[in-house]
Amino acid sequence: MKTLQDKVAIITGGSGGIGKATAKLFLSEGAKVMLVSRSEEKLKKVLKELNNENLAYCAADVAKTEDTKKYIKETLAKFGQIDVFFNNAGIEGDVKPIKDYSETEFDRVIATNIKGVWLGCQHVIPKMKDGGSVIITSSVAGIKGFSGLGPYVASKHAVVGIMRVAAIEFANHKIRVNTIHPGPVNTRMMRSIEESISPGHAKEVQKGFEADVLFKRYAEPEEIAQLVLFLASDSSKYITGSMQVIDGGMHVG
Ligand SMILES: NC(=O)c1ccc[n+]([C@@H]2O[C@H](COP(=O)([O-])OP(=O)(O)OC[C@H]3O[C@@H](n4cnc5c(N)ncnc54)[C@H](O)[C@@H]3O)[C@@H](O)[C@H]2O)c1
Repeated sequence: MKTLQDKVAIITGGSGGIGKATAKLFLSEGAKVMLVSRSEEKLKKVLKELNNENLAYCAADVAKTEDTKKYIKETLAKFGQIDVFFNNAGIEGDVKPIKDYSETEFDRVIATNIKGVWLGCQHVIPKMKDGGSVIITSSVAGIKGFSGLGPYVASKHAVVGIMRVAAIEFANHKIRVNTIHPGPVNTRMMRSIEESISPGHAKEVQKGFEADVLFKRYAEPEEIAQLVLFLASDSSKYITGSMQVIDGGMHVG
């Protein structure tokens, strides 16, 4: 019996690095997966690459209520139930000090990273089966500060609050809610942050971040997916309301 046999999972940010690696692992463990992301083009690419009849996609903006309802409706129409919700979509925003940060960009980061996670919890969890699991992607930036990433850091702290309240409010349905806190992961997002910090010198910036990780390297998205699988599975059925750090020891240094 596979770990997620016949379970249905929604993965937001499903066309991105961590979302795609998690979808691949979930499918190999018997799950049916609905990928959600804003870009239909990118979703189509992932669908083609993973090539699995248990995989579907819905192009939606997680920061919009109507889009949230749409991806839920399409998941239920296609797979009939929801057991696992990987509430993972996020953006890094501009890299600038607080004093220079634009209000428009602040609003954009908050809309996806806080409101998107909130709307997901508000609309998806009540439709989930009892005993389900919600995994929210925070970050090591949800535990400590990083210069230049004010709205991102604020948003990743904020989702811990959403997680704690949701864990309390849905405990009577045995629905578990936890956050994960990755350090730097080898995906588009870190490339973008590195380039924004020092244009043309991304490699040097990467070395600087790696020096702050006890294991002296970034994580691969597949390593994050293993933690998400554990939290999605019955192996973690007594874990709720928790913050799971997966950062190669970055936060202790
Ligand atoms: N890469 C890292 O180093 C790192 C570290 C800690 C936490 N995280 C978090 O992990 C999550 C996934 O990031 P990633 O590294 O895979 O980055 P990524 O840029 O590869 O993927 C982000 C995904 O989110 C989607 N997305 C963004 N805004 C959206 C919106 N409004 N509606 C729907 N989809 C939207 C994108 O289309 C993409 O699929 C994010 O929440 C990120 O903050 C990443």
